[in-house]
Order: sequence, then C-alpha cells, then structure tokens
Amino acid sequence: MPQGRPRILVPGKINTRVLDRLPDHFEPVFVSAADPALITPELSAGISGIAVQGKISAAFMDAFAHLEIIANFGVGYDGVDAVHAGHKGIVLTNTPDVLTEEVADTTIGLLLNTVRQLPQAERWLRAGRWARDGAFPLSPLTLRGRTVGLYGMGRIGLAIAKRLESFGVAIHYHTRTAREGLAYVYHPTLKDMAAAVDTIIVIVPGTDSTSKTINAEILAALGANGVLINVGRGSTVDEAALTDALQRGVIAGAGLDVFENEPHVGDDLMALENVSLLPHVGSASQATRNGMADLVVDNLVAWFTTGKALTPVPE
Ligand code: DGY
Repeated sequence: MPQGRPRILVPGKINTRVLDRLPDHFEPVFVSAADPALITPELSAGISGIAVQGKISAAFMDAFAHLEIIANFGVGYDGVDAVHAGHKGIVLTNTPDVLTEEVADTTIGLLLNTVRQLPQAERWLRAGRWARDGAFPLSPLTLRGRTVGLYGMGRIGLAIAKRLESFGVAIHYHTRTAREGLAYVYHPTLKDMAAAVDTIIVIVPGTDSTSKTINAEILAALGANGVLINVGRGSTVDEAALTDALQRGVIAGAGLDVFENEPHVGDDLMALENVSLLPHVGSASQATRNGMADLVVDNLVAWFTTGKALTPVPE
C-alpha cells in the first residue's frame, strides 16, 4: 500500500454518492474519461485504485504501474476487461445483491407495460384522444396464460421468477446447468426453451458466450404470440434481427431496458408501437443506487484496510 491515503482514480462520470464518500477515506483523482492518453507518468505512479461507472480497457489498466483494484459501479461488469485484470492480478469488484429486488420489480413493470401496452394507453390519454376518439384499443396481448422462459437464473432471475409465481404463469428457464432444488422447467438449450415458451426474459450477463444469442432463429421459435423482454445487456440481442421480427410480426412485442449501442436507440426500433422502451433504469431508484455507491466505496475501503474486497467478481 502506498504512503498516505490511497489515490483512487475516477475516470468520467460516476454516481454522486461515490464522489461524496471517497474523500472520507481516499485521495480522489479525476480524469474526464478512461483514456490512456490522459494518464501522465506522475498520475500513473500514484494511483492504486479505480472507481468506475463505465468502461475500462486493457490499455487503460496498462497505463498504471501500481493498480491494485477496480471497483465497478454495477453488478454487470462487461465494460471492464475482467480477463486482463485477472492476468495482471488486479482485483475487480461489482455490486451484487443490493440491486436484485429493484431490477426484478422493474422487469415485472416492463413485462406488464409490454403485454398490456400501458405506456401507449397513457400517451393516448395525455394526447386528449380518450375524449376525442373514445376508448383506447383493446390490447391484443395479455399476461394471462403465458409461459415465461427466463434466460438466466442468477440472483435477479430467481427474484423475477418468485414474482412471476404470483401471476400464475408457467415458468421455464435456461442456464448452462440446471439449478438444484428449483421447481421450474429447465431447458439445456435456449432454442428448446424458445420453442416451449411464448415469453422470454433475458437476464444473463453480457459476455462473449451470450453475445447475440437472441437471434432470428430464437425469435422465430418464440412465435407470433411471442414477447421478448431484455433487462440484462443489449449485446445479448441481435437488435437488427429483433427489429425485423417486430416489423414483420414474427413475434408480437418486446420490452427493452438495455440496447446494443447505449445511449443510442435505432430509429427503426423507436418507430415501432409494439415495443416498450426504457433508458436502462433497471436499478435506477435513489435508494438502490445509493446502496450500489456504498458498495463501491466499501469494497475499496475493505481492500485497503484488510487486503480483502467484499464482493470480488468470480474468477
Ligand atoms: C447493472 O448493475 O449492471 C445494471 O445494469 C445497472 O446499471
């Protein structure tokens, strides 16, 4: 550990509670972006930790001679080159558990919005169309009688499944291996699950092995009554294939909180009425984001005081 208070680099924007708390324990250092070109030799030598809400490349890590830990704001850490961090012996932490219930709640809201077209109904009312044109058209879809397949059954997947039980829908899931003690229907392949259900909820992390796994074939298997909900990562869905499937009625609707190229959302997707769109707000309540911010700072404090991080990502 360096002499004095550890210097923690914050590249780009991060939740304000992280900024408020860091000076209580560390000397925070700010740069406008995680760009190696911004790192001078003096800066490089003094930094032993990074707190980040965004991307950290291998090249950026390599710009620091004594980097010990990267504390990622978010449970998903696909923005950080975790393999490179592992090779260099840099500890990477994320923020699991504190956002599980919030993301599960948002998922149910997005699912209901999508099948019952509630945002469209509100837009109808606000545009004065109820008084002018009469009742909002009946929604062609319902949650009643649906068979919902969870693609991913980690902590958040499980919390979504528990909520779904109370809606009386059938629950299936696909992960690499079946989870012991779960009564839901397990499918060893995504394609099998897509053929057996009419609704898929994506809650897998964004990795090379999940990239664009929701493709034209899976959407075709889901079928004309099909609904796709994505609250995991945009990279899991082939967005061009999804847009095409929605335009041609290959599936009935989609609800998306995450996108391939955030914060940009394709014009073709934006133009569709059978899709419900959210700006990546799964965990975005003040209380939950405070919990995530605290875990970022607490991980750094734990590492520099005990040599053990609270929530290192799995190797
Ligand atoms: C996460 O924590 O990974 C969520 O996407 C919220 O940003």
